Amino acid sequence: MSDPYQPLKNAFARYTTGVTVVSCLPKDGKPVALTVNSFTSVSLEPTLVLWCLDNHTSIKPSFDESASYAVSVLASDQQAVSNRFATPGRHDVTPAESETFATGSPLLKGRLAGFDCEIVARHQAGDHVVLIGQVKHFDSRDGAPLIYSGRTYLTGTLISD
Ligand SMILES: Cc1cc2nc3c(=O)[nH]c(=O)nc-3n(C[C@H](O)[C@H](O)[C@H](O)COP(=O)(O)O)c2cc1C
Repeated sequence: MSDPYQPLKNAFARYTTGVTVVSCLPKDGKPVALTVNSFTSVSLEPTLVLWCLDNHTSIKPSFDESASYAVSVLASDQQAVSNRFATPGRHDVTPAESETFATGSPLLKGRLAGFDCEIVARHQAGDHVVLIGQVKHFDSRDGAPLIYSGRTYLTGTLISD
């Protein structure tokens, strides 16, 4: 049966984004993460960011019980990382591939930028929940980003003027 939402999905897919992996630390102490491209910055003062979580994602209960999340902005050589954390059953984050800062939610090594956030608001919005985070710690480095456009990955090169 054809998907009635396919034309809308095709239109949404025309919007080009970076790629992030967002993690949290549930009460059992075993961090989990998923691939996310709905991340955006919101406010400088206070410093706020947001992203949107699908209500049907298997690890949503982990985010429901977590007081924080951490956003890792992926670099151009991290396509395999993106694919892995978008795969059902492959959400576990190991200590060897990550580090923690203020909140305990892990940031992935090799990232271009990281935002360690306390969750300050959750807004139910249709079939997603918007998770607003206040940034407690962040970092960044130069490098080419991983780009997602039209359901394909592109690698970016920095253009200087
Ligand atoms: C590039 C990319 C961006 C994604 N962005 C989001 C997002 O913003 N929010 C979300 O809930 N899922 C997003 N997903 C889907 C989740 O990563 C994916 O559904 C989830 O990891 C699958 O987990 P599950 O099958 O265990 O529920 C994205 C997937 C990809 C490949």
